[in-house]
Amino acid sequence: MKIISQPAGPLLGNTEIPGDKSISHRAALFGALANGESSFNNYLIAGVTHTMLEAMKDLGIQWELDEDRLTIFGEGMQSWSTPRNSINCRNSATTMRLLAGALAATGTAGVLDGSQGLRQRPMSRIIKPLQMMGVPITASSDGRAPLSLKARPASRPLHGIDYKLPVASAQVKTAILLAGLTADSATIIREPGPSRDHTERMLASMGAKIDSESCTKEFSITISPLSQRPLSAVRMNIPGDFSSAAFLMVAALITPGSEIKMGNVGLNPTRTGLLDVLRGMGAAIEITNQAEQHGEPVGDLTVRYSHLQGTQVSGSAVVRMIDEFPIFAIAASSADGLTSVRDAIELRHKESDRIAVLCKNLKDLGIEVNELPDGFTIEGGKKISGGRIQAHGDHRMAMAFTVAGLVAASPVSISGAEMIDESFPGFVQSLRTLGAEIYGTE
Ligand code: S3P
Repeated sequence: MKIISQPAGPLLGNTEIPGDKSISHRAALFGALANGESSFNNYLIAGVTHTMLEAMKDLGIQWELDEDRLTIFGEGMQSWSTPRNSINCRNSATTMRLLAGALAATGTAGVLDGSQGLRQRPMSRIIKPLQMMGVPITASSDGRAPLSLKARPASRPLHGIDYKLPVASAQVKTAILLAGLTADSATIIREPGPSRDHTERMLASMGAKIDSESCTKEFSITISPLSQRPLSAVRMNIPGDFSSAAFLMVAALITPGSEIKMGNVGLNPTRTGLLDVLRGMGAAIEITNQAEQHGEPVGDLTVRYSHLQGTQVSGSAVVRMIDEFPIFAIAASSADGLTSVRDAIELRHKESDRIAVLCKNLKDLGIEVNELPDGFTIEGGKKISGGRIQAHGDHRMAMAFTVAGLVAASPVSISGAEMIDESFPGFVQSLRTLGAEIYGTE
């Protein structure tokens, strides 16, 4: 599917943000590990979370979706059944990596596979620590999917490890933490940056013992084994996804005359790096009604058009906005002066090689961009020209360039825009309701 996004008037009004993708994934999975009925309001209904729910079905887990309310009928870790066929994780690395940890914890055998795109993504980062814990898991010879796990009897517990992640990653951390629930001793994970901590918050609310510590160079998390205790069921309102709100936030910041309000957005500090960086660039973003909802901070955001200045992002700031670089690059293109992004080589391992694809697409729209091995620089302040770009199988690339079209000299057409439904199915409609002019073609 192709969409065409074109310059129009200001964006004005209020909009809802769908449920957080990371929390929705964990809701389904952790609910299935617990004993009892868990329920989640504002569950994200999108491609990637559908993938996780289908996987739950393959594992014999009962669940029910009533509009955006998910109920999971958890019967504990012993209840998981071996799937008849390989589990199709489609395009979702989160589904694959988190499920690997859960299969490890429950001792369930299974094969995890996915799309060609997912088969390209690195999996040895979970294989290595899980094998160290005694998990019978293997990948293809180059450390990619399909992943294969053998059954493990409850009489053969996993081993606690003290493991230093070479790259901060919430997916890898979660896989290890889940396995750590059934280990024979505590597991310690040390990260070079503060990756998102939804797992720690949710597992703690379900009765797991987790301690976090941080100093300037290291973020460490210790999980104690459950020792036969079950995880308890949980009820939660899932906050709006900050990473989805980010697209509308930047759209309003760069479209003259705009003012939009988004209610009940997740403001977990491990996710809001972009907010801090944009404010440093001069963005007018106001937070009201701050509260804590079932262990996760939330608030309402009001965003007004602002004159942005270029900036620098590097070091541990990168991990707090790891999913936001496509839309950040559009903000940087509209900002005055130079922006540089360094220490972000991890972007090459996302849904697309986000450094290469971003640089190519920006160049095609007349932006002065320089590709670096671990990031890029953008000389902003020049009008984005219209043109045709490709999403390269990446939902966030499609959304970022839809936003670019709103301030371009002429329309921007985006091929592969159907990927948007992977994480934010209402994206185009939300922008249209706020005043954007976006058309779709088959
Ligand atoms: C996610 C963690 C991040 C992020 C992804 C979702 C999660 O990946 O990019 O969209 O839900 O744990 P990494 O852990 O690979 O950085």
